[in-house]
Amino acid sequence: MLNLGLITFLAVASEISGETCRDSSGVTVCVGLTLKPTHKINIRTNQTKLCILHGDNSAIPSSAFTSMPQLEGLYFNTTNVREIALRAFDGLPHLKILGFFGNKIANIEQAVFLECGALETLDLSGNDIEFLSRINWVGLEKLKNLYVKHNFIRSICEGGLEPLRELEYLDLSLNYLESLNSSSFRIFKKLIKLNLASNRIKTIENGAFNGLVKLEELNLEGNHLKEIEVENVMENLLALERIHLAQNNFICENFSRPTNRSILIFCKKSANIIS
Ligand SMILES: *[C@@H]1O[C@H](CO)[C@@H](O)[C@H](O)[C@H]1NC(C)=O
Ligand SMILES: *[C@@H]1O[C@H](CO)[C@@H](O)[C@H](O)[C@H]1NC(C)=O
Ligand SMILES: *[C@@H]1O[C@H](CO)[C@@H](O)[C@H](O)[C@H]1NC(C)=O
Ligand SMILES: *[C@@H]1O[C@H](CO)[C@@H](O)[C@H](O)[C@H]1NC(C)=O
Ligand SMILES: *[C@@H]1O[C@H](CO)[C@@H](O)[C@H](O)[C@H]1NC(C)=O
Repeated sequence: MLNLGLITFLAVASEISGETCRDSSGVTVCVGLTLKPTHKINIRTNQTKLCILHGDNSAIPSSAFTSMPQLEGLYFNTTNVREIALRAFDGLPHLKILGFFGNKIANIEQAVFLECGALETLDLSGNDIEFLSRINWVGLEKLKNLYVKHNFIRSICEGGLEPLRELEYLDLSLNYLESLNSSSFRIFKKLIKLNLASNRIKTIENGAFNGLVKLEELNLEGNHLKEIEVENVMENLLALERIHLAQNNFICENFSRPTNRSILIFCKKSANIIS
């Protein structure tokens, strides 16, 4: 989170110039920077993290960051991103975190992540994604953490998700999922944490969580589930240690877990439970 002093500085800075960068606790923050295909950015910094804040970057051009090969984290926060050109992240061999918080991404047709072989975390929270299958995930074979919180996802079809098979954490909270079936998570056999909080899940078909043999934490709070659905889920998840069940269609406090399992049940709604 930004502190108030920084916010004030950034607000002032963006009035002075459309393109102001400043180092701030390990991150270079550029306010209002607009990337153009013809103009290579040339920010002199030793920081390994760059955050572009606000500004208008509806299309991220090719090879925009080749002058910053040291980058490990690159964030576009509320900068209106809709499109990403092929090879946009060329020349960033150390890039581990890529963030697109609060943009307008609905689909990504081309293999824009092909050059991102080292990427571990991708944040697509707060975008316009309706279908995960409309994002080209090729190149993300090593991705561990995927945030697609607060989008418009109503169902999960497995088509095109194969590159994501190493995922350990998947955040699908604040979407519009209604039911889960055996295709929903078939690809994600390595998941350790799954966040499905604040969806509209009413039914979880038998087998929806089959194969999630490593899943330790599951967040189902804020859905429309009945007790019986949750009992079935627990039976299938043998590694489960923690489950969040607040605000469903049963009294969480009265829920009795299977007697031979030591699963921690959380019944209080938590703002930011697992990260
Ligand atoms: C980057 O680091 C080098 C040596 O570590 C130093 O000489 C240089 O001044 C630094 N540049 C900036 C912009 O901090
Ligand atoms: C940018 O967004 C990331 C989440 O992707 C957040 O952690 C970070 O604090 C934000 N940075 C700024 C300067 O707003
Ligand atoms: C599971 O749900 C998805 C999305 O609603 C659907 O496309 C798929 O056919 C369903 N699969 C099965 C086995 O029911
Ligand atoms: C839940 O448990 C409390 C305390 O044991 C009990 O008084 C209450 O009747 C239970 N509610 C339901 C719906 O079973
Ligand atoms: C718990 O008991 C049920 C029914 O007796 C059994 O099917 C299941 O394998 C047991 N689970 C563990 C983890 O021992």
